Amino acid sequence: MSITKESELIGMKKVSDVVAYTLKEMKNFARPGMTTKELDNFGAGILKDFGAKSAPFAVYKFPGWTCISIDNEFCHGIPSTKKIIKEGDLINIDVSAELDGFWSDNGASFVMGEDKNGHQKLVDASKEILQKGINYIKGGVRISDIGHLIETEAKRRGFKVIKNLTGHGVGRSLHEEPSEIANFKDRFNRTRFKKNSVVAIETFISTHSTHAVTLNDGWTMVGNKGGYMAQHEHTIVVTDNKPIILTEKNAIWD
Ligand code: CO
Ligand code: CO
Repeated sequence: MSITKESELIGMKKVSDVVAYTLKEMKNFARPGMTTKELDNFGAGILKDFGAKSAPFAVYKFPGWTCISIDNEFCHGIPSTKKIIKEGDLINIDVSAELDGFWSDNGASFVMGEDKNGHQKLVDASKEILQKGINYIKGGVRISDIGHLIETEAKRRGFKVIKNLTGHGVGRSLHEEPSEIANFKDRFNRTRFKKNSVVAIETFISTHSTHAVTLNDGWTMVGNKGGYMAQHEHTIVVTDNKPIILTEKNAIWD
């Protein structure tokens, strides 16, 4: 969406605070021994307290309130009573929701407790690259230039990017124009970021794979060549200067 009046900015700030707070609290609540369903139910309770609706459930009938992906799962992991969180696991939580007709989206990867499996470097790369990318965005910047920046930074750190997962416009629905904000230089995408537009910027930084493929459950995505992936996502408003980071309360950069 494009912000045209104060009430729209207020609406976007409100729903963004809710998804950001939910993500932060879920990260804090996660413990070894807990199932991903318990973690999802905890997040669902927060969304409900604010009167917000889970976006993946509302839009796609996703079998959960948030997406929780563990280890080799890249994204869209289904919360399950059979999936138990372990010390050292790479976890991704993605929270998106609707409140009063406004939609916001954010996500984060993190290591559960002690980094027994050496995932922290990947997580830090994703976090830092998101920050670098967002700082570069302003009205008039080509979307493909952000993709180029993300891919270059990933490669410099010895990682790859996933080519078939992208950021996207957001605001009046979960996925809007611009529909694809890729993590590589897409030379067919000549569109530019527009001032006052609301977009969800996400990294998809991986150790081995370049594409995500869907498992037989119809939702969970894993890598075409296996390995691990880290994602961090903020919903922002594009300006003439540094973007307004609507989901900054998720504290993924702190
Ligand atoms: Co998104
Ligand atoms: Co998301």
